[in-house]
Order: sequence, then C-alpha cells, then structure tokens
Amino acid sequence: MQDYIININGLYKSFKGVDVLKGINLKIRKGSVFCLLGSNGAGKTTTVKILSTLLQADKGKINICGFDLKKDPQKVRESISMTGQYAAVDELLTGRENMYLIGQLLHIAGYKERAEILFKQFELSGAANRRSGTYSGGMRRKLDIAMSLMGNPQILFLDEPTTGLDPQNRIAMWQEVIKLKQMGITIFLTTQYLEEAERLADHVAILNNGIITAEGSVGQLKNLLPIGAVQLMFDEKQYGPAQSILEAESAASNDAGLSLTVMTDGSVEALTTLLVKFRDAGIRVKSVVQKQPTLEDVFLSQIYSGKED
Ligand SMILES: Nc1ncnc2c1ncn2[C@@H]1O[C@H](COP(=O)(O)OP(=O)(O)O)[C@@H](O)[C@H]1O
Ligand SMILES: [Mg+2]
Repeated sequence: MQDYIININGLYKSFKGVDVLKGINLKIRKGSVFCLLGSNGAGKTTTVKILSTLLQADKGKINICGFDLKKDPQKVRESISMTGQYAAVDELLTGRENMYLIGQLLHIAGYKERAEILFKQFELSGAANRRSGTYSGGMRRKLDIAMSLMGNPQILFLDEPTTGLDPQNRIAMWQEVIKLKQMGITIFLTTQYLEEAERLADHVAILNNGIITAEGSVGQLKNLLPIGAVQLMFDEKQYGPAQSILEAESAASNDAGLSLTVMTDGSVEALTTLLVKFRDAGIRVKSVVQKQPTLEDVFLSQIYSGKED
C-alpha cells in the first residue's frame, strides 16, 4: 500500500547554468489536491514537465505511482495526464471526434463508452456533436480535461489552469477540480493565485528561489504566522516615509490605499517597538488593526525571507 502517490527527493534542474530547482522534496498523498504555489518564473512549469516526463531532471529521485521516473518513464506516462496537452485540439472536429481521436491514439479499449461517460460527467453530452471550434472558453477547458482523462490517469497535472480566465470561468474551473477529486484522481495543480490554493488545496507548497520555503495545509501555513499580521494606517503625506521605515522589517506588504501590513510575532512588545520607531521618526500612525493572516501574508513573508539570504 502506497500512501504517497508522488515522492520527490532532492530534485535539481538548471538551464544554461541558471539554477531553477535547487533541491525540491515533496510527498503528495493519493487522492489529494496538491497546490504548488509560486510567482511567475518560480519554476512551476519546469517541475510539472519533469514529473510528467517531458523534461529530464539534473538530479533527484522521483517516484510516481510506485514507478521510478528515471527507470520506468513509460509506466509513469501511462499513470498520469496533463491538461493543456491537447490544447491544439482540432477545432474542425466535434467534441466526440476529438475524444475518439485520443482514444485511438492511446489504444484505449472501449474508448467510445469511456467518451460517453466523460461527456456525462462534464455535462458535454449535448454538445458532443458540435464542432469544438464553436465551444465557449469554459466548454473547451472541460473538453480538454475530459480528453486528458480518456486514458484513466491516476494523477492529473493542471499547470496554471485558471491563468487568463475571467472570474466566472475561474470559478467553473474550481468546480471541475473539486469534481476531479471526487472521482478519486490526485490533482497536482500549480498556481500564482493564493485564493485558488486556499479554495482547493489539501496541501500547499510555496516554491520560491528554487526551494520549497513552506508547506502544509492552508491552516498550517497560516499558523506559521501566529497572530502577527498588523495593519497600520497612515496619512497620505506620511505613507512614503512610513514605507521606508518598514523596508527594514522582514515582511511588510503594501496594501491598496494608505495602509501597510507588517508581520510581527504577535507580542505586545513587538507592536510597541514598531510604534516607537514611527514616533521617533515623527510619523503618525492613524490606526492599528490586528489581522487574521491570509495565505497571501504567508506567501509574502516567504518571499521576503527568501530575499534576505
Ligand atoms: N528551456 C528553458 N531554457 C532556459 N530557461 C528556461 C527554460 N525553461 C524555463 N526556463 C527558466 O526557468 C525559470 C522557471 O521557469 P518556469 O518553470 O516556466 O516558471 P513558472 O512556470 O513558475 O512561471 C524561468 O526563469 C525561465 O526563464
Ligand atoms: Mg508556468
């Protein structure tokens, strides 16, 4: 019995001397939604490409569905799928023809029956005979997912599935991910959106500067910042000077408007020290609010601490 369906140990990858992944370790539970959170260029796609056998790692031991990625890439390939893989879907073909094509390419026995089951699951039965070129953006994403499930994969990689989607389609995509989880599929999802991780993930890892700087459930990540997020409000004139004072702090984020959020350990002493700093600099703090930390705060504090070393 294998508890972890993906096991990554010491994964390294560089491109032309630039280190992108500098020793990634991750364990992902079967049937869970795992979220790799990182800003643009963090190395998310590189990780997904390595795990899905499209790119070779420089170093590292990776086991997927019980198979060693290096020794048994074909077995791994048969156990996984990736959306976006069939993004070059033939728009002249109907949804059904596209599905059949994948079934034939992958030599799936009973692919016609499988296609019908998936059409039902993704509410595409009514549109199956229509040219996919006439589908809405949301329907195309659904068809793309349905196509990537033709081979009955155990793991589905979704690399930034909602980037570029409008809010309505983003929410629809989230519902699809929940449905996929209910179908028992392990989801490996990458995103730049904290809200997405917060909504979907059983387990989140933050990729920053080539390493995993924090990981756990959303609740655990929030606990990394006990009660320490403090929001300070300033006058327009004093906002700039306040910002420069806070540049020395480990994690200050600029909120929209005239407030700054600072991470402290939550103690009264820490807050006092902070306020004394402003008083000494002649800056008036208009108000102080204790904030419940969001995943965004965790993310920002990770990025800041990553920059310091
Ligand atoms: N084939 C490549 N050759 C050179 N550099 C690459 C290549 N692929 C990715 N990179 C670089 O590796 C870094 C991580 O890229 P990527 O994995 O695409 O990040 P993300 O998906 O998180 O935005 C970036 O700096 C990118 O420019
Ligand atoms: Mg990417």
